[in-house]
Amino acid sequence: MFNRFYQNSRKPRGWSGKIFVTSMNIGHTANSRWGLSHLSIRPGDHILDIGCGGGINVARMLKRAIEGKVCGLDYSEVSVEKTRRLNRKAVRRGRSEIRLGSVSENPWPDNSFDTVTAFETIYFWPDFANDLREILRVLKPGGLFFICNELNKPEEGEMSRQYQHWITSLDLKVYSESEYRKYLTDAGFTGAAFVSRGETGLCVSARAAKGIFA
Ligand SMILES: C[S@@+](CC[C@H](N)C(=O)[O-])C[C@H]1O[C@@H](n2cnc3c(N)ncnc32)[C@H](O)[C@@H]1O
Repeated sequence: MFNRFYQNSRKPRGWSGKIFVTSMNIGHTANSRWGLSHLSIRPGDHILDIGCGGGINVARMLKRAIEGKVCGLDYSEVSVEKTRRLNRKAVRRGRSEIRLGSVSENPWPDNSFDTVTAFETIYFWPDFANDLREILRVLKPGGLFFICNELNKPEEGEMSRQYQHWITSLDLKVYSESEYRKYLTDAGFTGAAFVSRGETGLCVSARAAKGIFA
């Protein structure tokens, strides 16, 4: 029962999914605020938040991209509905657009965004290498990709049992700094940078190298 409820973190569904997305908006506050403190947002930026969940990060970024647009993408109908509802004023004003879809087949055209963010979601992505190429496609040349995760693989040594339990029971994919760097470089990103928090928290940022060196 407990485990079934937490499976909503992979794809919120039904009534328990509705409770879950609301609880993520509260439960992820510390990680979200920490991550956002390391993300530079200009007033006119166009931003896409992938795996937008309950939509709280879209709401927080809308407060900083005051002349821009903050969109959301999620393959869960429950997440899309909650994010639209939480950000309904911005959606009505054309400052936000929330779409149903997978990270692997991003519905936006090439070169749409200055920044793409991914909070607590890459654990579930089906093919990280391919999904990164899709992100590169929708980023403008030199645009920023930003990951913020509470769980990442330490470069050396073991994780505590508690973290290992979450990773195993929810079948999460986690990466170390050197693995991130390789994936990002292979996909066409440059300047990977890392900020860590506690035992396993990490913000990762890298720029779309396309067009920069042409
Ligand atoms: C743990 S929740 C995180 C939600 C939110 N970003 C936060 O930090 O509170 C993961 C979200 O990613 C979405 N997700 C997982 N895999 C996805 C995929 N392949 N494509 C699109 N969304 C995905 C899930 O539906 C869920 O809403």
